[in-house]
Amino acid sequence: MKIKLLLIGSLVAIAAMALLASSVNEREAERVALNKSPVVAEADKNKNEAWSRYYPRQYSSWKKTKESDEIKDMIEAKPQLAILWAGYGFAKDYNAPRGHYYAIQDNVNSLRTGAPTDDKTGPMPTACWTCKSPDVPRLMERDGENEYFTGKWARYGSEVVNAIGCADCHDNKTAELAVRRPYLDRALAAAGLPTFKNSTHQQKRSLVCAQCHVEYYFKKTEYKTKDGKDAVAKVVTLPWAEGLSAENMEKYYDDRNFKDFTNKISGTPILKAQHPGFEISSTGIHAQKGVSCADCHMPYTQEGAVKYSDHQVQSPLETMDRSCMPCHRESEKKLANIVKQKFDRKEFLMEIAMDNLAKAHLETGKAMELGATDDELKAIRTDIRHAQWRWDYSIASHASFFHAPEETLRLLASANETAQQARLKLVRVLAKYNAINFSAPDFSTKKNAQKLAGVPLAKLVDAKLKFKATLEKAWYKEAVKKGNLNMESREGVDKTSSYFKK
Ligand code: HEC
Ligand code: HEC
Ligand code: HEC
Ligand code: HEC
Repeated sequence: MKIKLLLIGSLVAIAAMALLASSVNEREAERVALNKSPVVAEADKNKNEAWSRYYPRQYSSWKKTKESDEIKDMIEAKPQLAILWAGYGFAKDYNAPRGHYYAIQDNVNSLRTGAPTDDKTGPMPTACWTCKSPDVPRLMERDGENEYFTGKWARYGSEVVNAIGCADCHDNKTAELAVRRPYLDRALAAAGLPTFKNSTHQQKRSLVCAQCHVEYYFKKTEYKTKDGKDAVAKVVTLPWAEGLSAENMEKYYDDRNFKDFTNKISGTPILKAQHPGFEISSTGIHAQKGVSCADCHMPYTQEGAVKYSDHQVQSPLETMDRSCMPCHRESEKKLANIVKQKFDRKEFLMEIAMDNLAKAHLETGKAMELGATDDELKAIRTDIRHAQWRWDYSIASHASFFHAPEETLRLLASANETAQQARLKLVRVLAKYNAINFSAPDFSTKKNAQKLAGVPLAKLVDAKLKFKATLEKAWYKEAVKKGNLNMESREGVDKTSSYFKK
């Protein structure tokens, strides 16, 4: 009996060891496979699915950025925006950011990108794709950077089809962090900062985000095409040569007499801040203490014996246990309340700034209507330009209230003071033209504000829906045919926008 038991016992032990050995062998085989280069085939690297075999955890957490799908119509929430951006695409349609998974679809759905009917029509240049997809560096590498930045947005509709993903931040041969947008290194060098390659590992964990979460403008650049023709590219350029602060960039743009657009109501040459999140964050306490974007937005996650970075980039308030608690001692609830307080303080000053700015535009418009000259309005428009830039720089990246609270409030205070200066001067001009009692018309709803801004919303939506039923569909078919896209990767991506709900 004893011998029998011993025998069974050792058989079980042998079986267990064999199992373990085979799993060790499997893991060893996996390790060898992973270290064989190239990790992900060159031809497939821009498709996120191609990485899933090797990195299932990173892939499936990346895909969860799909869960952040809420459309928040910012013009509905803050109608003043339509006045501030009158004459510019953003007055038509502007939503708060969603998950990376939606980057391309939101760009395609936005009324800002219009309703092209072929690859030569539509309001926007190719540059509008730049922060949406790993297909962008693919095209820069294939066609040349200047060529990529030439022509209309619609030109690349069947080429830019995979949402922000693995090949935006990783080298496909080593899986190391890597950036593929050459304008970032040019900007770092212009600012006297180390380039990506020369940065520390911790800095790289933020710099991968700085490919996109930064301020930029389209710099007109003359060049010769491959067949020797003169052409002009609109090259995404980060205005960092004077430094990264709002005042540094204001000087950079002023020195170049640059404007993104002329406000249709007030005739002011306006700078539109894009989303200088990296820049303004760098003034905050976390960045100064060496905390990287990935520390909060891609926290480490433990799964059995495996530790990996959570690729569901989202609001860290959803993951406070992993994003904040490794460093902070107070309760999650208390910390979340402190964050909320910061948000409320920003909202308070921001609302005042936006109201002042909207009124300054409308009062200037009134003065123009009564015959005020460009000379009389010059100093006023300069004030409005600077006030609006400071307001926009401080809030455009959505979370500067947390990333850099003091800098955000400082800039909002400066925006308010400067907008007030403009309005003081306007009182004098309006008095001269017998309109001292003028008060700005109501802009408290999206409808009123877009009307004042001259946005033909219904017409824009109509044209967009036609585009979605025709050219957009053709793009994806062509993309599949060219081998750029797996249609499954688009599952469930096109459900809602600010103007249609399914
Ligand atoms: C290739 C460009 C690109 C890169 C690289 C990039 N982002 Fe984004 N990010 C975007 C765009 C575009 C959106 C908005 C997508 C939308 O609304 O459809 C966005 C949205 C976000 C959001 C909002 C998500 C939500 O659920 O509301 C966060 C947070 C964010 N990014 C953080 C980061 C961080 C942190 C990094 C670096 C680890 C990073 N991003 C790298 C382009 C980029
Ligand atoms: C917005 C940039 C960004 C994108 C997109 C991205 N990663 Fe990462 N990834 C990072 C960062 C940052 C780290 C942390 C690297 C470190 O500290 O070494 C990381 C880490 C990794 C690692 C190392 C192990 C780990 O989890 O820390 C692997 C493997 C990886 N990512 C694979 C992927 C795959 C596969 C995809 C696409 C499904 C992807 N990544 C998309 C930025 C990104
Ligand atoms: C110390 C933690 C921390 C660091 C570091 C950090 N963030 Fe954030 N981030 C947050 C918090 C908290 C929010 C606010 C989320 C909210 O309001 O729901 C946020 C929000 C955002 C948002 C706006 C999301 C939205 O939908 O409104 C973006 C974009 C973003 N961060 C990008 C970045 C980038 C890029 C970096 C690095 C330059 C960075 N963050 C560094 C904690 C951090
Ligand atoms: C890698 C460590 C680290 C992480 C992760 C981190 N913090 Fe911090 N946090 C710090 C440090 C360091 C300071 C500076 C104060 C200090 O030295 O004690 C700070 C300061 C703060 C402050 C006070 C400073 C201010 O701006 O008013 C708040 C609030 C805060 N953190 C919230 C958060 C939240 C929320 C998260 C998660 C989304 C987070 N932190 C993640 C290290 C971290």
